[in-house]
Amino acid sequence: MSIHFHKLAVVDVRRETAECISVAFEIPGEIKSLFEYQPGQNITIKIRINNEEVRRSYSICSGPQEPELRIAVKEAPGGIFSTWANRELVKGHFLDVLPPTGRFIIHPDIKNKKRYLAIAAGSGITPVLSIISTTLHHEPLSSFTLIYGNRNRACIIFRDQLDALKNRFMERFALHHVLSREITDAEIYSGRITALKCEEMSANLIDFQLMDQIFICGPEAMIFEIKDWLLARKIAPNKIHYELFTIPVSAERDMSASPRIPAPAAANAVQPNKLQPETTTDTELQVSDVTVKLDGISFDFQLPFEGKTVLEAALDQGADLPFSCKGGVCGTCRAKLVEGQVAMDLNYALEPEEVEAGFILCCQSHPLTKKVVIDFDQK
Ligand code: FES
Repeated sequence: MSIHFHKLAVVDVRRETAECISVAFEIPGEIKSLFEYQPGQNITIKIRINNEEVRRSYSICSGPQEPELRIAVKEAPGGIFSTWANRELVKGHFLDVLPPTGRFIIHPDIKNKKRYLAIAAGSGITPVLSIISTTLHHEPLSSFTLIYGNRNRACIIFRDQLDALKNRFMERFALHHVLSREITDAEIYSGRITALKCEEMSANLIDFQLMDQIFICGPEAMIFEIKDWLLARKIAPNKIHYELFTIPVSAERDMSASPRIPAPAAANAVQPNKLQPETTTDTELQVSDVTVKLDGISFDFQLPFEGKTVLEAALDQGADLPFSCKGGVCGTCRAKLVEGQVAMDLNYALEPEEVEAGFILCCQSHPLTKKVVIDFDQK
């Protein structure tokens, strides 16, 4: 088990659209097992550009059944890494890469007979392609429907690959392109993917209620609008999975005002009050003794209940912990709380069952107890 960066050679850079490339890596035999992945996971890349360390997470678009590990990188306006990669990255470059992480995943099972739906827009197709392709290959009795939104035909990332899947799995894969800036044959395929568009599709094309699992990936506004629309139609929350690529604007704006999310106390911990920090006196600064375990090695530091997060404090101490977004989105800093209790500012990466099992995001966690022990080695 390792959550450290590994230098990987870029073996192919393919232009997918005018704004997007896909990048394949060579994984040396001795670390192959570290880079095994579930469809839907992502990797984090670390690079210095103009003397600045940049870390970015990118979803894997290939499937575990394929011989390569490939990601897609869409050039974002002002994006330091994505701009560099789209203009400079070539075969033969080496990049520092963290092994795959992320919980926007599927566990294919040959016995499954399920109906899946994915709703993606733009580069949100990246993890979705991996999920669809793997499911169609490994679940011969399951079917997949994809609603995929783009500005126009030229912007459609992985158009050929999706067409190939459609041709191969004609009976089990339904593909609906929705274009916002190109006239389409049918009105229903024009515009953006909104709640209204889903309403229209549910009346004419797709029975959302029949879906066993629904995956949503794209811009934040689309994700939350569709998620709310699905919940309003009584679709069970545990059937809805979504993946954010950026920290939600609303979360950034409201973070100081929003209540923290309590992580359950570790099973063997002294139970503090559920939501309240352990108190000493009103005037005494409350400080926790924090232990972080990584690769079997422990290091200790003190951290006030209020102020820096566990991740920030640990990095200040020189710890080499895994992280990428620092915004509660990518899940790279996921670790297990084995003693004490913490509160998280935000969590867009962990499923409720994981939080229940004691997993936390270190980039969002603040201590609530005098002693906190966090273990990166437990999965
Ligand atoms: S670094 Fe991305 S969730 Fe913590």
